Amino acid sequence: MSQHYALITGASGGIGKELAYQFSKDGYPLILVARSTDKLKAIKENLKSAYDIEVITLVKDLSKEEDIQSLYDELKSKEIYIDYLVNNAGFGLYGKFVDTALNEELNMIDLNIRALTHLTKLFLPDMVKRNHGKILNIASVAAFMPGPLMTVYYATKAYVLSFTEALENELKGTNVTVSALCPGPTKTGFSDRAQLSNSKLFQSGAMGVETVAKVGYKKFMKGQTVIVPGVQFRLATFVPRFVPRKWLASIVRRTQEIK
Ligand SMILES: NC(=O)c1ccc[n+]([C@@H]2O[C@H](COP(=O)([O-])OP(=O)(O)OC[C@H]3O[C@@H](n4cnc5c(N)ncnc54)[C@H](OP(=O)(O)O)[C@@H]3O)[C@@H](O)[C@H]2O)c1
Repeated sequence: MSQHYALITGASGGIGKELAYQFSKDGYPLILVARSTDKLKAIKENLKSAYDIEVITLVKDLSKEEDIQSLYDELKSKEIYIDYLVNNAGFGLYGKFVDTALNEELNMIDLNIRALTHLTKLFLPDMVKRNHGKILNIASVAAFMPGPLMTVYYATKAYVLSFTEALENELKGTNVTVSALCPGPTKTGFSDRAQLSNSKLFQSGAMGVETVAKVGYKKFMKGQTVIVPGVQFRLATFVPRFVPRKWLASIVRRTQEIK
């Protein structure tokens, strides 16, 4: 059994859970992190019986700095080294910025940006030292454009993409890679939490979560830097290069509106 551990944040549902299944199929031992004890426990039991792998679950709120540090310290004290770090936990919020709740948006920045940066800062040096490792950051198609009606969420994902591409450059010459998975709308708990299940965007063709995870996992393992599952979404990330940003904001605004 390989002892190349994979740590997945936000593994209690959605894309994180499906990525856990992808790693399990290849026999990797897993560290699954989220806030929901029961959901993590159920996934652990399923994975262990289906794939006979080691699964450790850690209940953490990654929007809290102390939980991030304790996660790292607990693994270090057990001499568990992470070879695959998946920064997946994240959420969005729908509404005009002038109306949305500040505390939710600051919490989103803490999770989507701070936690991802902090975890990378903790785990990357060990990977570089051992000259082995891979980091997968979950960005979004949203990273490529301004996002009226979800202003803060789109901006957090632009950070994730920029951070990943710059880090990939710095890691050249090492055996460590970093990738950004940029899904379009995907059928998970995300749209309910963000309150945008009825937006034109989600109503007109969200992708299946299994497909997103499968494509993401395969290309991540090959070391691809930017991964956009689905031809239609690859197009959606390519076209913005040729469209003035103001026009782009208007187009995105239309797709974000509630039907
Ligand atoms: N679904 C989409 O359309 C879509 C598209 C592009 C990108 N994404 C990105 O994909 C990633 C995963 O989203 P998803 O669609 O799979 O959403 P999801 O089904 O809502 O899953 C989110 C996961 O994050 C965990 N989480 C939330 N807050 C947390 C916190 N404070 N600390 C630790 N874990 C936390 C949740 O578990 P607990 O509630 O148990 O903590 C859950 O496991 C996110 O970064 C999202 O921005 C999603």
